[in-house]
Amino acid sequence: MSLFFFLLLWFSISQALPPPPRGFFLNCGSSTSTNLNEIDYKPDKGFVSVGNTTTINQKDLIPILSTLRYFPDKSSRKHCYNFPVAKNSKYLIRTTYYYGNFDGKNNPPVFDQIVGGTKWSVVNTSEDYAKGQSSYYEIIVSVPGTRLSVCLAKNAHTLSSSPFISALDVQSLEDTMYNSTDLGSYKLSLIARNSFGGDGEMISYPDDRYNRLWQPFSDPKLPTVTSRSSINPSDFWNIPPSKAFVEGFTASKGKPLELQWPPFPLPATKYYVALYFKDDRSPGPMSWRAFDVSVNGLSFLRNLNVSTNGVMVYSGQWPLSGQTQITLTPAKNAQVGPVINAGEVFQILPLGGFTNISDATAMEDLLESIKKPPVDWSGDPCLPRVNSWTGVTCSKEKITRVISLNLTNLGLSGTLSPSINKMTALKDLWLGKNSFTGPIPDLSSMTRLETLHLEDNQFTGAIPESLARLPHLRKLSIKNNKLKGTIPSVLLQKKGLTIQASPENMPRTNQTGQIKYTYFIKETFGHDSSTFAMFFYMTLLFPFNSWKTCISYVNVIEPPLNHSNTLNLDYRGLYHQA
Ligand SMILES: *[C@@H]1O[C@H](CO)[C@@H](O)[C@H](O)[C@H]1NC(C)=O
Ligand SMILES: *[C@@H]1O[C@H](CO)[C@@H](O)[C@H](O)[C@H]1NC(C)=O
Ligand SMILES: *[C@@H]1O[C@H](CO)[C@@H](O)[C@H](O)[C@H]1NC(C)=O
Ligand SMILES: *[C@@H]1O[C@H](CO)[C@@H](O)[C@H](O)[C@H]1NC(C)=O
Ligand SMILES: *[C@@H]1O[C@H](CO)[C@@H](O)[C@H](O)[C@H]1NC(C)=O
Ligand SMILES: *[C@@H]1O[C@H](CO)[C@@H](O)[C@H](O)[C@H]1NC(C)=O
Ligand SMILES: *[C@@H]1O[C@H](CO)[C@@H](O)[C@H](O)[C@H]1NC(C)=O
Ligand SMILES: *[C@@H]1O[C@H](CO)[C@@H](O)[C@H](O)[C@H]1NC(C)=O
Repeated sequence: MSLFFFLLLWFSISQALPPPPRGFFLNCGSSTSTNLNEIDYKPDKGFVSVGNTTTINQKDLIPILSTLRYFPDKSSRKHCYNFPVAKNSKYLIRTTYYYGNFDGKNNPPVFDQIVGGTKWSVVNTSEDYAKGQSSYYEIIVSVPGTRLSVCLAKNAHTLSSSPFISALDVQSLEDTMYNSTDLGSYKLSLIARNSFGGDGEMISYPDDRYNRLWQPFSDPKLPTVTSRSSINPSDFWNIPPSKAFVEGFTASKGKPLELQWPPFPLPATKYYVALYFKDDRSPGPMSWRAFDVSVNGLSFLRNLNVSTNGVMVYSGQWPLSGQTQITLTPAKNAQVGPVINAGEVFQILPLGGFTNISDATAMEDLLESIKKPPVDWSGDPCLPRVNSWTGVTCSKEKITRVISLNLTNLGLSGTLSPSINKMTALKDLWLGKNSFTGPIPDLSSMTRLETLHLEDNQFTGAIPESLARLPHLRKLSIKNNKLKGTIPSVLLQKKGLTIQASPENMPRTNQTGQIKYTYFIKETFGHDSSTFAMFFYMTLLFPFNSWKTCISYVNVIEPPLNHSNTLNLDYRGLYHQA
């Protein structure tokens, strides 16, 4: 759903300002700050590390629309802005787009916008652009961690164009605002926010301390009122601007007020609806208006009594579909007609899930320790699923876990951060054919690890004995590194493990190119009651001069009896070729 504002709808204001809005206000693609409605829009450089910038040469354009950042990299699965935020804090995010034919294609690109791990919406600015207008989108979110990401990504309609963005606001909200919605499970995507009966002037900061945009909405069929007193915004959970209560629609005495709003059809789903009312007359004992509120014929609130202090009526989960009609029916014998001043409608968007915090933290640490990581390593590592980080595969749970990390041959260097072992759901870790340096960290807590590929890198240090404690590890590839020492014997003896290593890390061989290991073997034969076991020692001789692979399939246990035997490697059951 896109809304619009006119290019030159901004006025300079000279009055005592409320405290400046808290948050981040970015003039995307610009290298200088610009002031809009008393808010400083800063260059976006510190919050995004990808994309190219350009300037739109068009006269009369407000400064925040005259520059943009676009993202031509087709291989990248998403392009993200990242913001440090307080844990569990509430934010209103606004993305602003003005195409301005920046790419000379005369066709605004269509692409996705993403918040955290949730696909927010498709961005389609075609209609607004055709009218010479910019487009903006708003969403209210709560952030579980300390990082908030807002990303753009190509979709099936983007084709050869590039996603772009003109301005990005991340505005901190108070706890009480929109608090009837559990923002831990849902997000609120703005459909419409209007001030009714207005004179064409949009309300924003400083009138609205939170820089929400209240579009004027007029209806020539409806009589209007102008209020003679003002409300106290903090009397309302949503802290609406006092100015939104100045103008309003009314109906003559005894008549219902019928309002078609929002003025466009809505997809059938649940919405957050807040309506704002105030008696416009001078405060006094008789200054109240009583009426019932219904939406599409269903009772929204009965016996509403609106005084000059104003009132907000809301529903956190109201089903709407198609056209919406709001009807205010005056109470019997009411001396004056009903009144309505403003309204907000948000679509309730279920959270797309998020990545387990300890996995996400481990991925962030890895991102820090890798030089030149993949460009799309930003935002949520797993979600949305089609926009996961390059090389990352995740489970299907709501709180998703990283189950595979495949960075084979991506030209990476740097070290492996020790916190990688927090990714305890990882089954496959493939880092082969890069230039990783430093030691192999302790991975012993990654108890689900099945395959570990570290080959063709520059890892140094010893081969960790702790790998032997990984119960499911069946493939270890460490060849062509700068590792010191031989493979620990506990690893060589690990049941079901195939190891690929360079000769210098293999156990020492004797002149004939063989090594000798003595094992105590417990073989079990038969099933159930007929099961019997045979115990014997055996010495394995491995011809490691043309070494490729060695598997021992036996467990070493304390010998209850001693017996020695020598087996030749040709005994196929004891060795596997790579
Ligand atoms: C975008 O910037 C990158 C490097 O900053 C440059 O290599 C690339 O050519 C630019 N792409 C376009 C389309 O200008
Ligand atoms: C974008 O919006 C325009 C105008 O509303 C519409 O014609 C077009 O089909 C939309 N594009 C996509 C890919 O949805
Ligand atoms: C929302 O905030 C108000 C004001 O603090 C409080 O009275 C109300 O109980 C809150 N509602 C919810 C659902 O938390
Ligand atoms: C509405 O509230 C006022 C006090 O603010 C009261 O005097 C009046 O009787 C109420 N009207 C109805 C219909 O309840
Ligand atoms: C995330 O994974 C850790 C294990 O690393 C686990 O202890 C924790 O419960 C998981 N958190 C959630 C929210 O699933
Ligand atoms: C990892 O990527 C490489 C190269 O793209 C591929 O050959 C290999 O099969 C992948 N491994 C897994 C576990 O997906
Ligand atoms: C070296 O291997 C040969 C071949 O079987 C064996 O006879 C000899 O005992 C081994 N020597 C040592 C020191 O292990
Ligand atoms: C079996 O071997 C152990 C040590 O390997 C040794 O202490 C013990 O004496 C041996 N027992 C017999 C019966 O040879």
